[in-house]
Amino acid sequence: MFPQKAATFNVTMRFYGKAKKASQPMSHNKNLGLEEKQVFDAKKFVENSLKEIRNIVGDCKVISACSGGVDSTVTTVLVHKAVGDKLVAVFIDDGLRREGEPEFVVKTLKSLGIKTRYVDAKAEFFAAFKGKTDAEEKRKAFRDKFYKTLGKVAKEEQIGFIAQGTIKADVIETVGGIKSQHNVLEQIGINPEIYGYKILEPLCELFKPEVRMVARELGLPAEISERMPFPGPALSLRVLGEVTSEKVDIVRKATQIVEEETKKFGTFQNFAVLHNDKATGIKNGKRVYGNIITVRIVDSTDAVTAKAHQVPYDVLRRISERITGEIPSVVRCLYDITDKPPATIEFE
Ligand code: XMP
Repeated sequence: MFPQKAATFNVTMRFYGKAKKASQPMSHNKNLGLEEKQVFDAKKFVENSLKEIRNIVGDCKVISACSGGVDSTVTTVLVHKAVGDKLVAVFIDDGLRREGEPEFVVKTLKSLGIKTRYVDAKAEFFAAFKGKTDAEEKRKAFRDKFYKTLGKVAKEEQIGFIAQGTIKADVIETVGGIKSQHNVLEQIGINPEIYGYKILEPLCELFKPEVRMVARELGLPAEISERMPFPGPALSLRVLGEVTSEKVDIVRKATQIVEEETKKFGTFQNFAVLHNDKATGIKNGKRVYGNIITVRIVDSTDAVTAKAHQVPYDVLRRISERITGEIPSVVRCLYDITDKPPATIEFE
């Protein structure tokens, strides 16, 4: 049923050359034994990846799970370049995306000439989160639902491979036990064939700055190549405690406000988190026990460490006024000033 070749990509080191421009990012991958002065060569990476993908995939069909983030979009475009219409991009609508995201992703993929399927799995994902409050349990519920949903599409499309945008940091954090990223399976001993397919991870030796270089090399618009990172399990990580569609609506609206007010910052990640606890406040002259939102804005290059951004106070005030004014249930808005470490970027 499956092709015998393993879908591994250990080819990154072939894509490095001597530094020509100081502005090119260095590799962070100490394990590759690269000399300090070596830099990533995105052009070479693309050329070699195309060959490698064609070689691994053979005559099989591939689906690419594309959330619209830079990693999964670069993966999708790369595989499409390699195998053309043998690829179908799949956008799973888990009900956890940012405002307008599903429409944006489907439109972008179609505009790139990629066959695209939209899968509405919102109800199934919310059912999977029912009663789950522990961060890791929630992540595992997401992962399981994600792969089962893809498994159904895989069966319908009769594919051999699923391409996904796993990058080095995902693997390091999962293998290191920091958190189980939803897209890391084989590296922690889960055989993806239980879901009915093999996995193709062309970016799994790259870090975010190199993925962005590949995006630029592929000619993707800045809207994609410079996109703010967004976690696979999406807003489920930003609803503390049990994830429900009502809570996701609150954090989605708060996220939209934070993003609108901080668009010009150029910071690494800007978002809102909905707490599980409630706090006392006053709305329309009445005492209410309402929701708490924390705003998190961080500077980072690779997400491995991060600094809380020094946001001008008037911007923080405006965010707080808008969040408490435009979202009826929210009575309190906080700003997180903790760096990573000791905190992580996300709250879960
Ligand atoms: P943390 O919270 O560990 O996040 O400092 C580091 C970076 O990874 C993103 N992140 C995830 N991405 N699946 C993902 O695809 C996940 O489970 C996950 N958890 C965190 C986070 O947004 C940040 O960019």
